[in-house]
Amino acid sequence: MLNRRNFLTAAVGVAAAGGLAACAKEDEGSSTSSSGGSGGGKKLTLGFSQVGSESGWRSANTDSVKASAKEAGYNLKFSDAQQKQENQISAIRSFIAQKVDVIAFSPVVVTGWDAVLKEAKAKKIPVVLTDRSVETSDESLYVTLVGSDFTDEGRRAAKILEKVLEKAGHKGAVKIAQLEGTTGAAPAIERAKGFKEVMDADHKDDWKIVVSQTGDFTRAGGKQVMAAFLQSNPDIDVLFAHNDDMGIGAIQAIEAAGKKPGKDILIVTVDGVKDGFVAMSEGKINAIVECNPLLGPQLMEVVQKVKDGETVERWIKTEESDFMQDQAKEVLPSRKY
Ligand code: AHR
Repeated sequence: MLNRRNFLTAAVGVAAAGGLAACAKEDEGSSTSSSGGSGGGKKLTLGFSQVGSESGWRSANTDSVKASAKEAGYNLKFSDAQQKQENQISAIRSFIAQKVDVIAFSPVVVTGWDAVLKEAKAKKIPVVLTDRSVETSDESLYVTLVGSDFTDEGRRAAKILEKVLEKAGHKGAVKIAQLEGTTGAAPAIERAKGFKEVMDADHKDDWKIVVSQTGDFTRAGGKQVMAAFLQSNPDIDVLFAHNDDMGIGAIQAIEAAGKKPGKDILIVTVDGVKDGFVAMSEGKINAIVECNPLLGPQLMEVVQKVKDGETVERWIKTEESDFMQDQAKEVLPSRKY
């Protein structure tokens, strides 16, 4: 479920994009339904560059985008960047060359987009960010962001860790290991920032991040890095993993080291995918901060408005919840992804 909160609003100075011809050629993954676009005219063509398929969250997000584009009747040109910025830049350039109506993308990292976004702007093709934000010298290079507040997710992770520690009866010093997401990616930067904010404000004397490294948002990365953490810091009390997949990989490493995840090492993750809930219902994850991947319906709505030259909010935030271990069994059957 998505929630519009009041943020800056941006006039979409992109009505001119409506004058661009939609490309008839459909790439792999294109939607084929024919009702789309406003007023039953020509189908709206959306170029979408996805980060990759690094996690369960990402697969759910891809499914949501494809299904929603089909439902909306758009011609979707979908491209998977395999976690590489250069692939995303090439995909965006290709969308520009094909004169798509709107470009949407989930940027793998925050920096390095100005040149390609200027090319899109020069051709009057509006850009919508989805899931992740970018840092840019010119705010007019994109219209809006549809996605989560990752800094707040980091804060929520720290707040829920307080409850986890209390429930476990843990007193005194807390040695924390942090598995970071992809280096330079908005969720990695901002979740770490939000977590540290709460830690510095409320737990300066008792909590300490003793080790922190990227696991690239993948299970394999989480497993490998956690194994190394346990070698250098065998007395870790808590793992904060920036996503479920890294947490699940880490659980394998913790078990291989002869320790009990969820007991010997308390674990808080972000996302809330089905596999995360399975691990939580088995007592191996203590709490999950939700990050909702089902952005497709809201994205398609925004894309249509942008194409029509309507005003949209600058940031359309996602509504999310937090879950403790004792909720896992009840919530698991209703998880959609
Ligand atoms: O940008 C969202 C993050 O990217 C998710 O938390 C993670 O699982 C994904 O890979």
